[in-house]
Amino acid sequence: MEKRPCRVLIGRRELDARVEELARRITEDYRGRDLVMVGILKGAFVFLADLVRRVELPLEVDFVAVSSYGKETQTSGVVRVIKDLDIDIRGRDVLLVEDIVDTGLTLDYLARMLRQREPASLEICALLNKPEARKVDIEVRYCGFDIPTLFVVGYGLDYAEHYRHLPYVGVLEEGSEAREGA
Ligand code: IMP
Ligand code: MG
Repeated sequence: MEKRPCRVLIGRRELDARVEELARRITEDYRGRDLVMVGILKGAFVFLADLVRRVELPLEVDFVAVSSYGKETQTSGVVRVIKDLDIDIRGRDVLLVEDIVDTGLTLDYLARMLRQREPASLEICALLNKPEARKVDIEVRYCGFDIPTLFVVGYGLDYAEHYRHLPYVGVLEEGSEAREGA
């Protein structure tokens, strides 16, 4: 399965340049504030690692791990929290970092859950965004790339846990079963 060919959609240099740009904006926007960057596992681990190393501010890093109920392609909107934050975010400036926003249901759920803890602010940063797939209106303050409604892998994103390590974002060639792995 690892051998399935993957067409490059966003190459490493393009990713690099965009991550740099997002980090520059975050650095400007969060100067003098109390930044906690929260990666959503597992998909955001590569993006978050690249991003935090370019933000030139004091910050803390934490993670949440979630999974959607069921194995269907479509997120049900009911999210199971597998690992919660270690850090108390009350009164702090939280930036949620996600790999991709598809229907938006996952982030909508998580953002609501975290807002109940009364952070000073809570914004969303996502590497990829599929605007056409959106089911709930969520504001993505920092967005890397808008992409069409395609199933993509690499740079943290998986298909059935494979391909996360690819240094680029790609589209699996052949077969429609690739859409079943969300
Ligand atoms: P949403 O709740 O529909 O926005 O789904 C978001 C989650 O679905 C992401 O965090 C990914 O884990 C997964 N996902 C959505 N689209 C893709 C994709 O194209 N490739 C890999 N995972 C995806
Ligand atoms: Mg994910």
